[in-house]
Amino acid sequence: MNLFRLFTRAAPQLAAAGPGDAASFAKLHAASFGRGWTEDEFERLLLDRNVLAHRASTGRDLKGFILSRLAADEAEILSVAVSASQRSRGLAGRLLDLHLRALAGRGARAVFLEVDDDNVAARRLYARRHFREVGRREAYYPRPGGGSRALLLRRDLG
Ligand SMILES: CC(C)(COP(=O)(O)OP(=O)(O)OC[C@H]1O[C@@H](n2cnc3c(N)ncnc32)[C@H](O)[C@@H]1OP(=O)(O)O)[C@@H](O)C(=O)NCCC(=O)NCCS
Repeated sequence: MNLFRLFTRAAPQLAAAGPGDAASFAKLHAASFGRGWTEDEFERLLLDRNVLAHRASTGRDLKGFILSRLAADEAEILSVAVSASQRSRGLAGRLLDLHLRALAGRGARAVFLEVDDDNVAARRLYARRHFREVGRREAYYPRPGGGSRALLLRRDLG
């Protein structure tokens, strides 16, 4: 096996992300969600001092990301995505674990997020990390024939 193949097969490396990641985040977001956020939207978020973001990459290829907004001692996870070819290998779990540690380090004592009730992988990801349901919004995510429910989840830190 040549060195290039060895490198690209390695587990993605996790790191803090910044405004320079806006273009790759927008591309992965668009591939992962019905309505993608633009590069400008990501750039604004990633420039915000109250937004914390991490990426997982192999070389220059983005494989996943997570970002949250902090407000006082609470944080909201705004988005998490892993590229389709990398799913079900624990990458979102690695990103979330690192991200929760970083949020705690920034003073967050509680973390909230909204998840589609139909999103089995995301619900398992959060359940495994002790997020619990604290609210729900019926017919929140648009679907042909009727919207699906959003679950509001919370996890205390510290
Ligand atoms: C949700 C998402 C981030 C999970 O990423 P991932 O790297 O595949 O997740 P992990 O491999 O860490 O797995 C997390 C859990 O989901 C489970 N899972 C992964 N893919 C699954 C699937 N297709 N169906 C059911 N469960 C699945 C895993 O088994 C794991 O649960 P476990 O720990 O109980 O075994 C990814 O599917 C994604 O990017 N989806 C599109 C964007 C999205 O929905 N983001 C979340 C919005 S809240």
